[in-house]
Amino acid sequence: MPESEIGVVGLGTMGAMLTLNIADNGFRVSAYNRTHARVTELMETAGNLARRIAPCKSVEALVQSLKRPRNVILMVPAGSVVDAQIDALQPLLDDDDLIIDMGNANFHDTRRRAQAAHEAGRPYLGVGISGGAEGARFGPSIMGGGPRESWDRVAHILDVIAADHEGQPCARWMGEDGAGHFVKTVHNGIEYADMQLIAEAYGVMRDGMGMAAEECAEVFTRWNDGVLKSYLVEISGKVAAARDDSTGTPALDVILDRAGQKGTGRWTVIESQMLGAPVPVIEAAVGARNMSAMRHLRLQGASLYRPNACRLDDGLEIQDLEQALIAGKILCYAQGFDLLYKASTDFGWSLPMPGIAEIWREGCIIRSAMLNDTAAALREAPGTNLALADHFRALMDKNVDGLRKTALAAQAARLPVPALAAALAYFDTLTCERTTANMLQAQRDYFGAHGFERIDGEGAHHGPWHGHDLDGNSTQG
Ligand SMILES: NC(=O)c1ccc[n+]([C@@H]2O[C@H](COP(=O)([O-])OP(=O)(O)OC[C@H]3O[C@@H](n4cnc5c(N)ncnc54)[C@H](OP(=O)(O)O)[C@@H]3O)[C@@H](O)[C@H]2O)c1
Repeated sequence: MPESEIGVVGLGTMGAMLTLNIADNGFRVSAYNRTHARVTELMETAGNLARRIAPCKSVEALVQSLKRPRNVILMVPAGSVVDAQIDALQPLLDDDDLIIDMGNANFHDTRRRAQAAHEAGRPYLGVGISGGAEGARFGPSIMGGGPRESWDRVAHILDVIAADHEGQPCARWMGEDGAGHFVKTVHNGIEYADMQLIAEAYGVMRDGMGMAAEECAEVFTRWNDGVLKSYLVEISGKVAAARDDSTGTPALDVILDRAGQKGTGRWTVIESQMLGAPVPVIEAAVGARNMSAMRHLRLQGASLYRPNACRLDDGLEIQDLEQALIAGKILCYAQGFDLLYKASTDFGWSLPMPGIAEIWREGCIIRSAMLNDTAAALREAPGTNLALADHFRALMDKNVDGLRKTALAAQAARLPVPALAAALAYFDTLTCERTTANMLQAQRDYFGAHGFERIDGEGAHHGPWHGHDLDGNSTQG
């Protein structure tokens, strides 16, 4: 007798937790995994919830166990695995059966799959989820994309398995085709930047101020009571306080400084470049992870160029660092939401901008107190860069000096702070009335006759060098 409301294909870290979450919320769910041992393991650890989980030995069995019209979640690695799973499922499904890709797909892939599904007259959703294993189990933030009616069909399940913020589910439909996966990608880009800013503050404390990991932990814990209150600051305090089991030393001190990544940060940067919506703090964060991976080069560089220990300006205080993080975080949100706004316009999605900030308030990795004010600012002044919105302008006024002081002191002491420095450069550019792009335009006109606008008139103009061979060589580059 088919009786499951929904099925999950892929019971890795996320799929297994999501299955338990669905069952915990009263739904009967079918579970399938390529390696059957994971299904057995899930059933063994499910306890009481096992009665609502139907273990399946094949995709065919999973399909047969589902109520019609069927709903199937894919929780497998992004890319070709998703296509392979769709190909395996499609012949077994009816036209009105719904496939929901809840992995971290590249939104271009989701658009392509959504288009193919649309042409075949089949429903398809691309849904981003955030919150790691704990979120998947107890309430993630859920960002949906695809036909509205398909979202509505499973919203009663997604709303209750999602995190809850003061009675509101942290699950929302973002728009057609790849909108959900795009928002999830930018979420991850902001996550990279948020993490890098915190790591740089830790670096200034550790290497510039000579603080032990436990002392850094106290600072993070204190910051988590203020404007910076967030999951990432909270866990930074916890990891800094933790001790390594085998050596008894601070756990942070035995962890190699080589960071991993799975690609969503990089995708954010690529899309920002394609859309012409700059996200330099996120770029710096992705670049920092790449630099961290080039350990052999860094060791060579350190041995060649850094004979002396760095000294940090004695005047720099913990309070300056806190201000630097506050300002950096605002600027990183400003960039992320500007990118979302640009994508919304270019892809015709009408992304619910304040709604995005709202569903990020709980369940996801970047959840933070500041997202409340972000949602309010986006609602009050739609399309305005957050750093220019009233609430955040006042906060920037209070904190930008700390960002400047920290970035300059760290750089003078040769401490790498790429994200803090990028945040400061972004702010200085955003608030610069006359940049040096007039020089760029002149250069472009000189070598390529591209023309430029004048400050005192309309239309395209050329400079006095145009058509002249100023130095005896061609002016055409
Ligand atoms: N981990 C996170 O914090 C997180 C957060 C949000 C989103 N995500 C996304 O969620 C998705 C799943 O992530 P995860 O962390 O759960 O991954 P995972 O622990 O590595 O699990 C991957 C699952 O996919 C299955 N799989 C892998 N290759 C397959 C193939 N060729 N054919 C069929 N099944 C295959 C695996 O089955 P076997 O057991 O047979 O290998 C396993 O069940 C990914 O897109 C990931 O980016 C992850």
